[in-house]
Amino acid sequence: SCRAMGKQPVKIMVTGAAGQIGYALVPMIARGVMLGSDQPVILHLLDIPPSAEALNGVKMELIDAAFPLLKGVVATTNVEEACGGVNIAIMVGGFRRKEGTERKDVMSKNVSIYKAQASALEQYAAANCKVLVVANPANTNALILKDFAPSIPAKNITCLTRLDHNRALGGIAQRLNIHVSDVKNVIIWGNHSSTQYPDASHATVITQAGEKSVKELIADDKWLHDEFISFVQQRGAAIIKARKLSSALSAASAACDHIHDWVLGTPKGTWTSMGVYSDGSYGVPPGLIYSFPVTCNKGEWSIVQGLRIDEPSRAGMDATAKELIEEKTLAYSFLD
Ligand code: LMR
Repeated sequence: SCRAMGKQPVKIMVTGAAGQIGYALVPMIARGVMLGSDQPVILHLLDIPPSAEALNGVKMELIDAAFPLLKGVVATTNVEEACGGVNIAIMVGGFRRKEGTERKDVMSKNVSIYKAQASALEQYAAANCKVLVVANPANTNALILKDFAPSIPAKNITCLTRLDHNRALGGIAQRLNIHVSDVKNVIIWGNHSSTQYPDASHATVITQAGEKSVKELIADDKWLHDEFISFVQQRGAAIIKARKLSSALSAASAACDHIHDWVLGTPKGTWTSMGVYSDGSYGVPPGLIYSFPVTCNKGEWSIVQGLRIDEPSRAGMDATAKELIEEKTLAYSFLD
């Protein structure tokens, strides 16, 4: 019938779009990986003026790829133009820490970038725009963005820990020599940094004999408490060592997973990990963007409640909260 015209396009902004993660991410979005194969999209690509020419090259390639779902591409170095009417904002751009730079300097630059982008989003994005911060320090960048976009609901501002979540699933699958899709319900608590607390104590595996706990199947507390945790915490650094560049394809894929599940829902009986504005659940201080186990339904996330927290988890969860408080204090020291 005439109604076969289908859905209205969703406008998605990607900042830092000419960079490594952006280059991996935009074709995934344009192919429907993020929002589904029946959802047309319009991409708004933002990067800084020195990258303008490269950004235009990305736009040219997106056109050349002739994606059926891609209904338009805006490539710009103007943040107001980039934010115009966007329904989803993926914040990949930021100031990266390089060898020899101080944590302090990086934080001060990111505070000013995220403050400016927050104001532009607040003024020009669509009402109810969903925001995902990917750029490090992701949790604290998201917190600055939240504070400077007070009219965007706090629940709409999140940061990426799905990459760590997926790494945790993968680590368990490799250890048990099973497929990653048979593992579920790991948790990443806290910061997207090496203080994060990867928690497999509630994780399960689908076997032919039904669902079994990972603890029971691995039956090696030392592996679960030491190797597994440091594998996940150090995986980003291991990728940098191997590639001489940060993870990009896995980060892009995780960003798609994050938005996909947030918008379209988590599968029944399954949770994921997202950095969200803490409401004090599990004794995490309110006022931080902290990674929790969440389920999503009808475009809204909610923190999974009532999980039993053992002693090592408690200590790990508190340590990563402490680091986030320190980052927040440092970030706020650059604000008037
Ligand atoms: C990652 O987790 O791969 C990155 O956040 C690491 C980094 O510092 O870029």
